[in-house]
Amino acid sequence: MLCGGKGLCATCQVVVTSGHQNLSPIGEKEEAALKRLASRSPGSRLSCQARVLGDVTVKMPDSDYITHVDEIEARIGTRAPRDIMHSEDGRLLVRSGQLITKYVITQLRKSLNQ
Ligand code: FES
Repeated sequence: MLCGGKGLCATCQVVVTSGHQNLSPIGEKEEAALKRLASRSPGSRLSCQARVLGDVTVKMPDSDYITHVDEIEARIGTRAPRDIMHSEDGRLLVRSGQLITKYVITQLRKSLNQ
């Protein structure tokens, strides 16, 4: 993942579906990274920060991560099947179901300085 397991990028987010009690408590760094995530759900944890102490079941979050707008430009005219997040800071760029238009791409380029 992007930060190499330092608890900064949140691209390693998983959603715990069972066995929450078998994970180490959420630390300050993990909590700060999770707070920035628009896609956070009640079971969200960072896989690089949570220590597994027993049986745990997780699922991947329902979102895609991109670092550059070019990665979604080919999807103009379609609806995002899942939330599209910025891979470095976890910002929500395109909400699931939103139509990806040239205007959306232009706005993303401006906000991401690309
Ligand atoms: S790898 Fe970056 S927060 Fe886990």
